[in-house]
This record gives sequence, structure tokens and C-alpha cells, in this order.
Amino acid sequence: MKLHINFKKTLLFAVFFISGQALARDAWDWKNIDTSKVVFNISDKFLFGVANAELQVSGTDNLPDSNWKPWEEKPGTIDDNQKSGVACDFWNRYKSDITLIKGLGCNAFRLSIDWSAIEPRKGLVDVRAVQHYHDVIDSMLEKGITPMVTLHHFVHPQWFEELGAFEKEENILYFVKFCAFVFEKFGSKIHLWCPINEPCPYVLQGYITGAFPPGQMVSFTKAGVVLKNLLIAHTLVYRTLKAMPHGKEAQIGFIHQYLNFEGYNPWDKPIADVFRHVMNTAVLEFIKTGRYIFSVPYVPFTSKILYQDKNFKNSMDFIGLNYYSEVIIRNFQPGCYDHEVMTDMPYASYPEGFYAAIKDVSQFGKPIYITENGIGDARDDRRELYIKRYLYAMKKAMVDFNADIRGYFYWTLMDNIEWEHGTNQKFGLYQTDFVTQQRTLREGAKCIKQFFKPLTA
Ligand code: GCO
Repeated sequence: MKLHINFKKTLLFAVFFISGQALARDAWDWKNIDTSKVVFNISDKFLFGVANAELQVSGTDNLPDSNWKPWEEKPGTIDDNQKSGVACDFWNRYKSDITLIKGLGCNAFRLSIDWSAIEPRKGLVDVRAVQHYHDVIDSMLEKGITPMVTLHHFVHPQWFEELGAFEKEENILYFVKFCAFVFEKFGSKIHLWCPINEPCPYVLQGYITGAFPPGQMVSFTKAGVVLKNLLIAHTLVYRTLKAMPHGKEAQIGFIHQYLNFEGYNPWDKPIADVFRHVMNTAVLEFIKTGRYIFSVPYVPFTSKILYQDKNFKNSMDFIGLNYYSEVIIRNFQPGCYDHEVMTDMPYASYPEGFYAAIKDVSQFGKPIYITENGIGDARDDRRELYIKRYLYAMKKAMVDFNADIRGYFYWTLMDNIEWEHGTNQKFGLYQTDFVTQQRTLREGAKCIKQFFKPLTA
């Protein structure tokens, strides 16, 4: 038998083997994909909205009792030592911002009711803040905009922080009480609820990277406990609200940022494995199996089963999927493949990953809302393509495997405080001038309107 050697293939294989370089991740043939035909019919059954969080748009001048205030005052916590101030002053400008939302063609808006505004001191309610949120919600309803409300979006009152926040299981009750209070006041007006935004990033930033309060670094064991407590908190809030008047008609979701990590080279794999577990798999596996095991690869003493709840899937009426991208660790730092384009965040645009994430969470058999998706792009030269390709990917998931997506919320209406990056990250469809508070629709954002058409039109 004659041995036929394909030199080109052998050489390629040798190069791959010696360099140890990973194969490129799943990539679609975008040159032959037409995104211009993609349309979503919006109605009561399919929402199109934008999303934000109170601290990010109103800042600590409007929320002086938030744990973000002492945090941002510490030197070195925020890029360039910025302070959030009034941020976009959404607190006072909500009426005109809701008009902007309406102008984009949205029929929904995901916002947060800030705990520190409602309960600035333990057990003390600020009735003006309650009235304020009634005014905000009523302004939306008058314009036919459906509210979706988050009850914990990374921050909480400073008094709760001082008690140890979610590090202690007994503190969960304070959060449940706050949620029940808000639900009692607003349950007749608001039907879509997100008790806790993204437990995994909260834990990663607060206990592993130290970018959020309490600013602890590599506290893996504590991270595992806090994540467990957040899962318990979600379940308790779910059960409590469901048992209250309006509970039955309420749709209460579990909000997960689906952030996968992959290593580019073999030597990058361990870092990716650690982050993947903390940010994605621990929680996804828990939802799938009912077993929460915070077993961080390569990190000792984190592998015992911390919690079991076979019924967790019954503690969510929908899954809220926040998807931005997938992080590639390349030579020990976030990067991308050579053919890809980075966003201003440490990841590239990756619509194929959005499709895969939708497929993965579809397994839970629950309705899906895309509760966040968007791009940080200060130059505004990647936004349009990002929007077109991600919406194409979402449509493809709905066509290919009938993904039960009930709505899409773009992150975000206008540039705001991107946490530890302050105003340096530009996620807004509208550019915010933080001095004049003027909002200007970006060129790259204009295309979003064409994707969403009222069902009757
Ligand atoms: C998150 C939050 C948002 C961010 C957004 C952009 O996912 O971290 O929900 O508060 O601002 O994701 O990074």
C-alpha cells in the first residue's frame, strides 16, 4: 500500500500541534447572511424594550444610602476615581426618557426599583420614594410601555452591606421583606419581575476580582456561599410573591448572565475553566440537576455540595437571559481570535454564542426573555453590525428550534455608569452628555427600530 502524505495538511497539523493553538470557535459565514429580512412582530406576547438599573442611571447623588456611595468614594475603586453624581439623572428626567423609549418603538422597559431608595434605613420606608416609583410606572403605563422590574441589581442599602449582605443566610429575610413590600404596593401594576439580577457577576466581582463591594479578592469559598444564598433568596422571594395577591398573574424570572469562557491556548485553559465555573456552569448545572456544587477547578476546598433543591426550576416562570458575548482567554488575558473584532469590553462580538446560549437555556422548558444584550462601543463603529447580527442569531434560534422567546431588552437606552468603569463604557443607543444631560441618538443605533414592528402594522 502506497502511503499518501498530504503535505499541506500535515504541515498545518504540525503547526497546530506545536503551537498548541485552539481551533477557532464556531463562526457563521456572515458574507452570505442577509440580516435585512429579520423582523420581530411586537405585541403583548412579544416585548421589545430597553433595560437599565437605577444606580447606573441616577447615581449616588440621587441614591445617597446605596452601598455604592462609600464604595465609589474609596480611592482606586472606579476608573479615574470618578464619582457617579447624578449619572444621567434619570430620577428626575424619567418622563422625557420614557418618551425616548416610546420613540424607539418599544412597548416595554426593564428598570430597577432601588432598595436603598425605598428603605434607606433598616425598617424605615421613604414614602416619597414609593410615590416616585408610582409616578415612574404610571408614566410608562400611560404610554403603553410594559414594565419589567428588577429588585436587586448589584447594589443595596449600606445598612444591609454593614450587616454582611448575602454572606449571611439570616440576612436573606431582609431582602424578602423588601421584595414583599414592593410587590404589595406595585403588584397590581407590574407583572414581570426579576428578583435578582445576575447572581454570578455579583459574586465574581464582589468576592473574586474585588471590583464591586465588598471588594474581596480570590475569596472562592465565600463566593460559593454568597452564590448559594442568592439562589436561596431567589426561591424565597419567588414563593413569597406567588402567595400574595396578584402573585398568580405575576411572571417572576431568574436572571442569568450567560458568560462562557474559553482558553485560546492550552495554557489559557485553566483560567477559562475557573471563570466558566463561577460565571456559568455552577448555576446552569444547578438549574438542570437541582444540585449546587461550587467546585472551582484547580481551587482546593470548594468542591462539597453546598445546596440541593430539585424544585428550583419551579421557582421561575421565565428565564431572563443576559447575553453579551463569550470571553476568550489568550495568553493569560481576555482577547479574541484574529478574524474577530473586540468590543470596548474585554470580549469580541459573538452572535454565534448568543444562539448557542439560547439553545442551552431552552432546555429548561421555560419562556425566555432576553433581559439584556448590547455593546460598549465608544467609536460607534461596531454597534450597527452587533445589533444586526445578534438579532439575526435570535431570530435563527426562534426559527431553528422554536426558542420560546417572549421579548428582547437592549442594554441600554443611554450611556450611564458602567460600574467600576464609570462613564468610560458607552453602551447607550443614545449618547449622554453628562454635563448638559443631552441625549443624542447614535448613528449605529438607528437600525434597531427596523427590526421591531407592531403586529398590526
Ligand atoms: C451586567 C449588568 C449591567 C451592565 C451591562 C453592561 O450585566 O453587568 O446587568 O448592569 O451594565 O451588562 O456590562
